[in-house]
Amino acid sequence: MITLDDVSKRYPNGTYALRDIDLRIDAGEFVFAVGSSGAGKSTLNRLLIREELPTTGRVVVDGQDVARLPRGRVAHLRRKVGIVFQDFKLLQTKTVAENVAFALIVTGHDGKTVREETERALALVGLTQRRGHFPRELSGGEQQRTAIARALVMRPKILVADEPTGNLDPVTTWEIIKLLVRVNELGTTLIVATHNAEIVNALRRRVVHLDHGRIVRDEREGQYAA
Ligand SMILES: Nc1ncnc2c1ncn2[C@@H]1O[C@H](COP(=O)(O)OP(=O)(O)OP(=O)(O)O)[C@@H](O)[C@H]1O
Ligand SMILES: [Mg+2]
Repeated sequence: MITLDDVSKRYPNGTYALRDIDLRIDAGEFVFAVGSSGAGKSTLNRLLIREELPTTGRVVVDGQDVARLPRGRVAHLRRKVGIVFQDFKLLQTKTVAENVAFALIVTGHDGKTVREETERALALVGLTQRRGHFPRELSGGEQQRTAIARALVMRPKILVADEPTGNLDPVTTWEIIKLLVRVNELGTTLIVATHNAEIVNALRRRVVHLDHGRIVRDEREGQYAA
């Protein structure tokens, strides 16, 4: 599903965020990206959604080299790869349902599809009852569930979560993680960047450990620390 071939990423200011990365993630995997602050986790995520291009090497997502996508296909890639962030990034002037429906509307889906797919995504994250609320009327966990529904509404093959529980208390953190596990079980490939050792150690999924832009550990049923 995802292949990085000898990928390095150097930002315009000269910082090398990733170096010589070789990584293959199969369809259906659940992968934790761990490593200290500045290790390159978010940069890796940005390459997957083509927010950044690799400086050298190749990033292939679902069979397509992201650097060689024709102009019109970038939007198509973004539909294949959903993303959620630590700070949710919801549209504050739109309701839960409007946030979730937004991508469907801008990609020109008809009203019936928008309604049906929005309801499906809301039900999946358990927010049907909150559909008319604004983000400021929601708890942090509900805001993150809204963000997850927004990402899932396009039925992406891959979901990238960048510190999805960084702003949440321990109980809410577990709710969100259980939801992400469920999304993975329904077939979506998951990549979760996190500093939360407890979660990583409890789930025993694949762990890719970055350090100064390099992969220093890649374990099948890994733990947070070696
Ligand atoms: N837009 C940018 N321009 C220049 N340097 C950047 C940029 N974004 C990140 N960096 C640098 O690249 C390196 C990797 O950053 P990145 O954000 O990928 O790390 P991270 O593992 O996500 O860290 P954290 O755990 O703090 O989120 C760091 O040295 C960072 O300062
Ligand atoms: Mg980061």
